[in-house]
Amino acid sequence: MKLNVVVSLLLLLISTATCCPPSDLRALLAFRSALHEPYLGIFNSWTGQDCCHNWYGVSCDAVTHRVADINLRGESEDPIFERAHRTGYITGRISPAICDLARLSALTIADWKGISGDIPKCITRLSFLRTIDLIGNQISGEIPNDIGRLNRLAVLNVADNRISGSIPKSLTNLSSLMHLDLRNNLITGLIPTDFGRLTMLSRALLSGNRITGRIPESLTKIYRLADVDLSIRSSISYISFYINYAPTKKTFYIRPWSVLATLNLDGNKISGEIPQTLMTSSVMNLNLSRNLLQGKIPEGFGPRSYFTVLDLSYNNLKGPIPSSISGASFIGHLDISHNHLCGKIPVGSPFDHLEAASFMFNDCLCGKPLRACLKH
Ligand SMILES: *[C@@H]1O[C@H](CO)[C@@H](O)[C@H](O)[C@H]1NC(C)=O
Ligand SMILES: *[C@@H]1O[C@H](CO)[C@@H](O)[C@H](O)[C@H]1NC(C)=O
Repeated sequence: MKLNVVVSLLLLLISTATCCPPSDLRALLAFRSALHEPYLGIFNSWTGQDCCHNWYGVSCDAVTHRVADINLRGESEDPIFERAHRTGYITGRISPAICDLARLSALTIADWKGISGDIPKCITRLSFLRTIDLIGNQISGEIPNDIGRLNRLAVLNVADNRISGSIPKSLTNLSSLMHLDLRNNLITGLIPTDFGRLTMLSRALLSGNRITGRIPESLTKIYRLADVDLSIRSSISYISFYINYAPTKKTFYIRPWSVLATLNLDGNKISGEIPQTLMTSSVMNLNLSRNLLQGKIPEGFGPRSYFTVLDLSYNNLKGPIPSSISGASFIGHLDISHNHLCGKIPVGSPFDHLEAASFMFNDCLCGKPLRACLKH
């Protein structure tokens, strides 16, 4: 009996000693004190000594009892948002104190709109990190230079912030990286030429920055790529894009990536002709708008052609719309306006729902939904 009491006391001592160690507790409290969340009270639950239980957005590893995840999303279905009838808003900065959470594997501080300051440089010490998701804040400064040390990192999402500087060279050392989303920041410089070392990458989203230069050919080595968004909307930048560039033909080819679903290369300076293979590839969202594409829209549409978006507007495309396009299985949104196309618009089910705007500002397209063709 007495022994039992001693044993349970000991167990109690051990468990309170190991759950949320004081160093993790200190780190979380410092993290909280650098942030100001005026509307929802998400930090109200951050009281007491045991950060592993019922602290909003904090979870611990079941074995080590160390903080493993910080998951704070400013737009979510959580009842806390429903009660407040609003989305989240936080000001302040991300305290470098989080770098003391040595076993942190996921850091998600997303869509709080007002968090500013830098990404703490020391974050690259957190060798267990698998996710960094800071989308939708006002975070500035640069991506830490030695980000490549995080060899478990699978998700790096800092989209919709004010990140500047260039893509660090070490980034291509992130051999586990699957999702890279840097969209809508102030990033300058080049895409590293050895980008193709990121062989696990399935999403490469870099648009809405000030990246210049060429899209590296090594990109073609990444067979898992499913979503590519390399459109550069800033007028001061340009990219010339040649995948499997064939200099003699002055054209570019897209490798038949079996999983490539989204290819947004709008607003670059891509010249040459549209490769025919693209019309029957796995690509469903294709935006090549605002480039320097020449030649005809290739024939070769067929039952395998399925497009939710096919945007070829603002190029130098000539000739007729290929008649094979009627054989496409689906075209949800088509835009071939602002080219030099001419001839009768094919009829067929992929077209029935399209409006005139899809075809306007060409040289001499005619037929439904534009005006009728003149009879010769
Ligand atoms: C990438 O990793 C290798 C091997 O760990 C290292 O030698 C190299 O310096 C790293 N590159 C960068 C740019 O950090
Ligand atoms: C394609 O890109 C252009 C230029 O960036 C953009 O204006 C357009 O909305 C995009 N098309 C679609 C269907 O998203």
